[in-house]
Amino acid sequence: MRRNYQNIPRYVPHAASGYALNQNESQYPLPERLERAIRDVSLEALSRYPVEELLALKASYADYAGVEPTQLMVGSGSDELLAILSQAILDTEDRVVAPAPDFSMYGIYTQIARGHFTQPDEQGLRYETLIEVIRATEPKLVLISNPNNPTGKMWTLDELSDIATRVPYLVVDEAYIDFTMKDSFVSRLSEYPNVIILRTLSKAFGLANLRIGFMIASEEIIEQIDRFRSPFNVSGLSAAVANVVLRDETYIQESIQFHTAQREKLTELLRPIGEILPSRANFIYVKTDDSEGWASRFLDKGVHVRAFPDGLRVSAGTDEAYALIQQTIEEVNSVENS
Ligand SMILES: Cc1ncc(COP(=O)(O)O)c(C=O)c1O
Repeated sequence: MRRNYQNIPRYVPHAASGYALNQNESQYPLPERLERAIRDVSLEALSRYPVEELLALKASYADYAGVEPTQLMVGSGSDELLAILSQAILDTEDRVVAPAPDFSMYGIYTQIARGHFTQPDEQGLRYETLIEVIRATEPKLVLISNPNNPTGKMWTLDELSDIATRVPYLVVDEAYIDFTMKDSFVSRLSEYPNVIILRTLSKAFGLANLRIGFMIASEEIIEQIDRFRSPFNVSGLSAAVANVVLRDETYIQESIQFHTAQREKLTELLRPIGEILPSRANFIYVKTDDSEGWASRFLDKGVHVRAFPDGLRVSAGTDEAYALIQQTIEEVNSVENS
C-alpha cells in the first residue's frame, strides 16, 4: 500500500431508509412518458464497448449547455471527473485551495493525486478570505462549487473571474447550477481559458443512479485531460438513457419548478429553527447550534438531513417528508413552551 494511505478518508455509501433529504438528490418523480421512452432504449449494443452512445450524449449536452461537443468530457459522475482532473493537473505536493465549507470530496481527490489541500480556517466563504489564502498559498488549482454545497451561496461571475486571473487552474463546480438556469461560468469561458466547469445529471436532471457528469473547458484543456481518462469510463446504457431524458423538451423545467416550490415551502417550515441562508439550489442551510440534536430528532421520524457544525443542510423533498419535519418542530416547541 502507498505510504500514509490511512490518511485518505474512506467514503462508505449507505442506503437511507425513510426520507432521504441528506444527499441533495432530485425528488421529482420521472414522468410516465419518460419511463416509457426509457423502456424503448435498445439493448442491441450491450455486447459492444460504448462509443456511439457517448457521441450522441455529448451532442445533446453540448446543445443544452451552449458549447461545442469538443469542449466536453463525460465522466462517471462529476466525482470521477474531479478525480481525473486532479490526476491530470497536479504534480506531487502541488497545492490546492477550496473555500470552507465546500464539497468534501475536493480534499480527498487532492490527497489521492498526492497534492496538498488547504481551506481557510475561518470565514471561509468570504471572498476576501479566499483571496488571502490564495495569495499566501499560491495554489496550482482552486476548486469552488457554485452554488456552494452546503450553504447555497452563489459566488459572482466577477469574483470567479478575478480568482481565475490569480491561479493556473480554476474549477467551477456547477453541480446545482441547473436549478437557477443563470449565472453559469459558461458565458465567460472563452475569456478565461484556464477555467474548467463541472456539471452533472445527478441533481436537477434526477439521474444520480446513471452516474453521468460533464467537464466543460477549452478544446485544448479537454484534449490534455482526456489522456487521464480510462477509455470506456461511462456505460453506454447510462448514456442512452440520459440522452432520452436530455431530449425531452419540458422535463428539466418541470423539475426546476417542482424543486423551487418545494424549497420555498421548506424555507418557511425550517424558519423556527434558525437563520435560513438564501439558496437557489435544491437544498437549504439553516443555522443552529443544535444541528446534531435536530438531525437526530428528524431521524427519529425517518427523515435524514445533514448536520454541519453550525447548521443543517436539508434537501428539498416531498410534502410527506415535510409533514414529519413540521411535527418534529411542533413537538419541540410544545415541550419548550410547557
Ligand atoms: C458540489 C458537488 N459536486 C459534485 C458532486 C458529485 O456529483 P456526481 O458525482 O453525482 O455527479 C456533488 C454531489 O453531491 C456535489 O454536491
